[in-house]
Amino acid sequence: MAAVIGTDLHAAERLLTAGELVAIPTETVYGLAANAFDATAVLNVFAAKQRPAFDPLIVHVHSVAQVREVVREIPPEAEALMKAFWPGPLTLVLPKHPRIPDLVTSGLDTVGVRMPAHPLTLELLRALPFPLAAPSANPFGYVSPTTAQHVMDQLGARIPYILDGGACSVGVESTIIGREEGQWMLYRPGGVPVEAIEEVIGTVRQQVKQVLPVAPGMLDSHYAPRKPVFIGDIAMLLKEHPGRAAVISFTRTFDAWRNEVLSASGDLNEAARNLFAALRTLDASEADVILTEVFPNEGLGRAINDRLKRAAAKR
Ligand code: TXA
Ligand code: MG
Repeated sequence: MAAVIGTDLHAAERLLTAGELVAIPTETVYGLAANAFDATAVLNVFAAKQRPAFDPLIVHVHSVAQVREVVREIPPEAEALMKAFWPGPLTLVLPKHPRIPDLVTSGLDTVGVRMPAHPLTLELLRALPFPLAAPSANPFGYVSPTTAQHVMDQLGARIPYILDGGACSVGVESTIIGREEGQWMLYRPGGVPVEAIEEVIGTVRQQVKQVLPVAPGMLDSHYAPRKPVFIGDIAMLLKEHPGRAAVISFTRTFDAWRNEVLSASGDLNEAARNLFAALRTLDASEADVILTEVFPNEGLGRAINDRLKRAAAKR
């Protein structure tokens, strides 16, 4: 049975209440949602995504008040960040409330929470008596979905309903930060630039590569198309890869088999919005390889470079 794509909030509400999975739109990427208090429903999320159990889920809420049902305490700096960036693409990792099943957090005593900035999903969350645990709605390790059709293409056979909220306006996942020994750490660069976060709480330490994946979004290979991806200087890469080379670049085209320019006007936000759709399109094309530039390492450029490096990492 294939999923239905639609905008019926009542249908979404009914299914989620019955413990079923529903794909939901957010401003970053589409999520695969389940009742965050229902361990059985959450187990189905892991199964549908073929996601390993060591990879914890983000819990989505409609208000700061609802965060208190999910976490044990909200430090003052976290509250300041919620005020500054919610609803929006920032996930805060905070001490977990005991009512959140261990499966959601993969046994960690912390939980990632965020309030997504999408009107349909906020309306859905407000209608439900529970928060929604939702990872990105893609098979584990693959590129995240930024349209309802992307979800349909890969998970359509495994879920009953996809709530269609149009194309995602940010296009890369949320920024994730957490506190370790009193120091805020960046676990994943994302939709809120780390520069903006530092304006609110001061220095955020960039996580150095770690042995255990605290955030499996930090696994070396992730967000990866099936075709080989190489990142670097395009002119040089084109010499190394004759044949059908598809190029992902920021502003300009190259003498290649195919070009995907992410923002002709040089806008990193626009580039982020176009990134995952470009990777999917090229992955489905006749290209032999995907070659990509390194983007300016500022604002959303950091998230773009992070995703491209992981897409290009050896598997
Ligand atoms: O923008 C987003 O964050 C999207 C939308 C749907 O909200 N969600 C998303 O979820 O990207 P996912 O599961 O693909 O990535 C969530 C990342 C994972 O790498 C996970 O390990 C990390 O968040 N994470 C979740 N809880 C955590 C925790 N307690 N400590 C450290 N990392 C955590
Ligand atoms: Mg993901």
